[in-house]
Amino acid sequence: MKERLQKILARSGAGSRRKAEEFIQAGRVRIDGKVVTEMGIKVDPARHKISLNGKPVSASEEKIYILLNKPTGYVTTLHDPQGRPIVTSLLKGISQRVFPVGRLDLDTEGALLLTNDGDVAQQVQHPSFEVKKTYVAKIKGRLSAEQVQKLESGIELEGRRTYPALLKVRQQTSRHSVVQITIHEGRKRQVRKMFAAIGHPVFSLKRIAYGDLKLGTLPSGKFRILHKKDLDKVFISK
Ligand code: URA
Repeated sequence: MKERLQKILARSGAGSRRKAEEFIQAGRVRIDGKVVTEMGIKVDPARHKISLNGKPVSASEEKIYILLNKPTGYVTTLHDPQGRPIVTSLLKGISQRVFPVGRLDLDTEGALLLTNDGDVAQQVQHPSFEVKKTYVAKIKGRLSAEQVQKLESGIELEGRRTYPALLKVRQQTSRHSVVQITIHEGRKRQVRKMFAAIGHPVFSLKRIAYGDLKLGTLPSGKFRILHKKDLDKVFISK
């Protein structure tokens, strides 16, 4: 059966469909050995050999969902021109070609989903699914009740208001505070920017949950394969 090339690529673990389109545009995809850059082309993966970056693409790879406790210092891209360690290098024993769902900054640690399922990856990231992400931030100084309220109701960030957030102050000293924050947006460095915008720069940041799927006691640098019931927790949250 013929299908759009970007759909086949996304399903086989190349990333989201948008990512797959970027690969096509960049000339990294071949059909029967020939580079294709045409968008929207339909192919029958049973009859043609598709490759990405010179590696064969399987049309029906088993879907896999992984929760990794990302250490700081790792990038969440699949290639790094600067040669920094990439998160997928931590997935020892995983043969499927998985990609990170969204990103975590180099200096942020914690829960990172990886999968070869482009559709689920898109859902987790799409604002309409409102997947909540919870972080623990160590920030400079003490937050006032007013500031907590401000962040919770939304602040102006780079010309756009942030959606409502949920905050819980876990610990405060005169020098720093430890604050739990739940948001369902995924703007670049959003949590760091939100705290910085109200005068409390972030010292360290860790994502502890997607929806009701918690990182728990998973050690730094380790991962676990998720079952269907775990994945469901990503999309439901109290
Ligand atoms: N917000 C940030 O500031 N950094 C992350 O890595 C994730 C959310």
